[in-house]
Amino acid sequence: MKKLPIYLLAFIFTLSSCSRQKPMKNVIDESLSLASKQYALMFDVMKGMPDQLPRTINAEGKLRTENARWWTSGFFPGSLWYLYEYTNDVKIKESAELITSRIEKEKNNKGTHDLGFMLFCSFGNGFRLTGEESYKEVLITGARSLSTRFRPNTGCIQSWGSRKGWTCPVIIDNMMNLELLMWAFKNSGDSTFYKIAVSHADTTIKNHFRPDFSSYHVVSYDTITGLVEAKQTSQGAADESAWARGQIWGLYGYTMMYRETGLERYLAQARGIADFLINHRDLPEDKIPYWDFNAPGIPDAKRDASAGAIMASALIELSGYVDTETGSKYLRIAEKQLRTLSSPAYLAKEGTNCNFILLHGVGNLPGNSEVDVPLTYADYYYIEALLRYRKLPGNE
Ligand code: GLY
Repeated sequence: MKKLPIYLLAFIFTLSSCSRQKPMKNVIDESLSLASKQYALMFDVMKGMPDQLPRTINAEGKLRTENARWWTSGFFPGSLWYLYEYTNDVKIKESAELITSRIEKEKNNKGTHDLGFMLFCSFGNGFRLTGEESYKEVLITGARSLSTRFRPNTGCIQSWGSRKGWTCPVIIDNMMNLELLMWAFKNSGDSTFYKIAVSHADTTIKNHFRPDFSSYHVVSYDTITGLVEAKQTSQGAADESAWARGQIWGLYGYTMMYRETGLERYLAQARGIADFLINHRDLPEDKIPYWDFNAPGIPDAKRDASAGAIMASALIELSGYVDTETGSKYLRIAEKQLRTLSSPAYLAKEGTNCNFILLHGVGNLPGNSEVDVPLTYADYYYIEALLRYRKLPGNE
């Protein structure tokens, strides 16, 4: 018998392996259905714990919660809003309303930069889906509180209080909080919010990034001269390493800032970061990053499911802002990430994992905190990414 040419064999192999894969529509529906069940169970637990919000699991394998002040407080209510969007189930809407109300007082919190995470994921999604007027006031008040942390001489919003010799530490994560400011600008007409967000994003491009588009975790400024006084890390493997979630906060943040402002420099920044991540020699085959791209011990280093989920969500959005070929490349990575996260390697079985959805997140490895555990924000961005993928043509 005549041998088939190699290219034909490769083509047949690709076709047969594609046909063995479950359609993404099924992956998404099954995963969101599991997520809805897990978070209904989580809600039953949280109902009996007034003022608390889920965070992770502790060393004894028990649920660890926090009050509204902790930076992750908005993710559980935000996930409930997303699940309401998916299911249209009024019971989930009521759960989302109750849990969202637990965070309202944080609108007056001027001691953190994390108000975007806390308020926009919760009240922001709630407002988007219901138009509830009282949520608007919470968001605008929250944006005003966040704006008080803007330090004009530096051009940035201060992330943390002074610590470890840093006068005015600004972390790359802070890019995520700008979405609240952009929303407040559009919904109040006050251009101060826009100016602060753009100033922060521009200054971050200037000082947080290396020529290869990787970023530092912490940049500290002198608030009098506005000069950079340190470029270091807090949650990464080393000052010069690329802490995975930090890289991906940047990817998501600049994609969002391009959406909100239309400024081409933010699109260019997002594309540069995407290329750094996608082409990195240590991005594993299943596309879930190690907790740091320069982690010691790769390939045995811990993976961070949260980084994988946030990256998938950002890439799906970014795919809509670029040419078709580049967009398809981003979507292939995001699809792989969602398939991996939706596999038994990362997805919890119903009723396990203290009712969190994903396994294997890394919060702060150098601080020996939250290593290889579920994380409320991993769940939030996983659900968001599934919903974003579902909205792509052909998936609904
Ligand atoms: N500060 C947010 C994070 O740990 O990613």
